[in-house]
Amino acid sequence: MAIIFGGRSSEHAISCATAAGVLTAIDRDRFDVVPIGIARDGSWLLLPDDPAPLRLDGTRLPEIVAAEHPAVVLPFGAERGRVIVAPATEAARVLEGVDVVLPLLHGPFGEDGTLQGLLELTDLPYVGSGVLASAAGMDKHVMKVLLAGAGVPVGPYTVIPRTSWERDRAAALDAVAALSDVVFVKPARAGSSMGITRVVRSADDGDAALVAAIEEARRHDPKVIVESAIDGREIEVAVLGGRGLDAPRTTAPGEIVVGGDHAFYDFEAKYTGTDTTSLEVPASLATHVADAAREMAAQAFEALGCEGLARVDLFATGTGLVVNEVNTMPGFTPFSMFPSLWANEGLAYPELITELIELALERPTGLR
Ligand SMILES: Nc1ncnc2c1ncn2[C@@H]1O[C@H](COP(=O)(O)OP(=O)(O)O)[C@@H](O)[C@H]1O
Ligand SMILES: [Mg+2]
Repeated sequence: MAIIFGGRSSEHAISCATAAGVLTAIDRDRFDVVPIGIARDGSWLLLPDDPAPLRLDGTRLPEIVAAEHPAVVLPFGAERGRVIVAPATEAARVLEGVDVVLPLLHGPFGEDGTLQGLLELTDLPYVGSGVLASAAGMDKHVMKVLLAGAGVPVGPYTVIPRTSWERDRAAALDAVAALSDVVFVKPARAGSSMGITRVVRSADDGDAALVAAIEEARRHDPKVIVESAIDGREIEVAVLGGRGLDAPRTTAPGEIVVGGDHAFYDFEAKYTGTDTTSLEVPASLATHVADAAREMAAQAFEALGCEGLARVDLFATGTGLVVNEVNTMPGFTPFSMFPSLWANEGLAYPELITELIELALERPTGLR
């Protein structure tokens, strides 16, 4: 089997940290591991089977540098595109012996269906959602449309595609005015809270703060989504695909409790604010709320057509549950929410990795 990590998105370093966790924990009696790193320039490289340089150690962010490792080539090898490099070395042919792939990539060019499409073309089974569900899960707009269409509650929002913003900014701002006074402005296709701003709208500043937030989001993705702020507790449910014809399996919810100076679960709170942000596993919730969250998470998983795994993030408000987002490749270090939630159900990290790979091996590529 191969693990693929790093990648071209801004979550490169987080993905490396995940790979370090997997390389350390994966069952070596069951699996021969080929570690494939993707550098920021998109080249695919054969990395040493060593978690140490991939760990987040607080002083530096891990990074895969193309010049330091031999290149690999996919077995169907036409000589075009970024990933197909000249097979100059032994390492180049290494993927020919691989029977299943565990993509550990977050964000665009990894979690968004692009890598999944490539693996489909090579007939290589892989862990997690296919092309459509991965793409839908990446795009916060399309995700909401699919969820709402399946009767899963989502909050109020408006979308500002590049053309709308560049053609008629006033109309876009009018659409935002129909939302609540506090809004979250987000790149439609990003992650790790990159480019997200919480804005308290005010007529006094002529929407200057809102415009600045939209421009910031546009630095990450020309398509922007603006959402009414939801007043609720942030809870998360981990979902595993069912074996065979079985229904998806869900965990008891966990809760993100953001403290300190963070107004929301922003990038810093996620990766550096461990002293002020806590992951409560399980969340302390009334049984009927926890059960409803699990059921809604399974519905969301199916509404997007997810496979393998997903983490469904919800807000528990005074008037009910709302889905915030579905992550088809959730944070997956041993300390992340998804593995912690499964550990709480009795499925430890190494066995969780085995289960994901077995789910992938039991599923064909192609239309299914
Ligand atoms: N509509 C909202 N209301 C309240 N808080 C929100 C809302 N949208 C996002 N947030 C906060 O911002 C964080 C990041 O937003 P999210 O949509 O989960 O983006 P990402 O894909 O980057 O994780 C959430 O974890 C939550 O703390
Ligand atoms: Mg999130």
